[in-house]
Amino acid sequence: MAEINRSHFNEEASTYDAIHSKLHERLTEEIQARLDWIGVEWANTDDDDDSSQDEDDDVDEPNESEDGPEKSPKSSQPRREVRLLDYACGTGMMTRALAPYTTQCVGIDISENMVAAYNSRAEYQGLSPDEMHAVVGDLAAADGPHPADLLVADPRLFDVATVGGGLHHFADPELAAERLARRLRPGGVLLVWDFAPHGPHATAHFRGSHTVLHHGLSEDRVRALFERAGVGEGFELVVLGSGVSPGHGHSHGHGHGHDGHGHDGHDGEPMRRQVFLARGQKAA
Ligand SMILES: C[S@@+](CC[C@H](N)C(=O)[O-])C[C@H]1O[C@@H](n2cnc3c(N)ncnc32)[C@H](O)[C@@H]1O
Repeated sequence: MAEINRSHFNEEASTYDAIHSKLHERLTEEIQARLDWIGVEWANTDDDDDSSQDEDDDVDEPNESEDGPEKSPKSSQPRREVRLLDYACGTGMMTRALAPYTTQCVGIDISENMVAAYNSRAEYQGLSPDEMHAVVGDLAAADGPHPADLLVADPRLFDVATVGGGLHHFADPELAAERLARRLRPGGVLLVWDFAPHGPHATAHFRGSHTVLHHGLSEDRVRALFERAGVGEGFELVVLGSGVSPGHGHSHGHGHGHDGHGHDGHDGEPMRRQVFLARGQKAA
């Protein structure tokens, strides 16, 4: 299954962002509107900085000395280090949604072309690999993470781990969650987006149907998965409302509907897939 996913997403990488742009835009809005709900102590945000800045920012500060301006509270404020692990990162949708509130983003994906797309977007934004970088890997393999030393070289733990649209592709989502949870610091948060349970795809109209192992995940299953992995503290799942339409498909595969109703195929085959966000925390 892993190999099927790898080769499918290698083929999709160059068109992935264009096909899924609507869903990604919507998810980014939903995630950024829920920063408090996610529950990570984020790196300083613009809002934090505002408190140390006056409207007359460009007016000389009274405490300016002959040696030059003293450091304003803003510039002296050390940035809290917040590390994000984006698993099944693809081109980096979850990373980009949360990057403004973190200091380092590490992506992992089984598809080397997805990883290349993630890294070229990071480079294009002028970010160094220390700030944002993805590597090829599989934490979800039954016989152990591939490569075996994945993430071992850097023993630092993460503040937040994400899996965006990945769980339904994994043979064993529970195992993947356990391996991710091990990489979280105490109090760290696992954040997932995926599909609520839905009927099977019409294979003729959805090129990626062979990569999907789970036709959505129920709240009970997701809750149990978080709890078993040790990240069940404060578990919450929200089904996102109108306007979320998965963009799977090919030439006409952009979702047009609301509440997860869209059209997956040439003949308007209806699809009903609702997207949820779930979060839970590792015991501190
Ligand atoms: C639907 S895409 C989601 C990409 C991205 N997270 C997003 O939100 O747009 C699923 C991703 O899971 C990756 N994937 C599938 N199986 C995987 C596995 N066992 N380990 C790591 N990545 C995997 C695929 O290569 C693909 O990039």
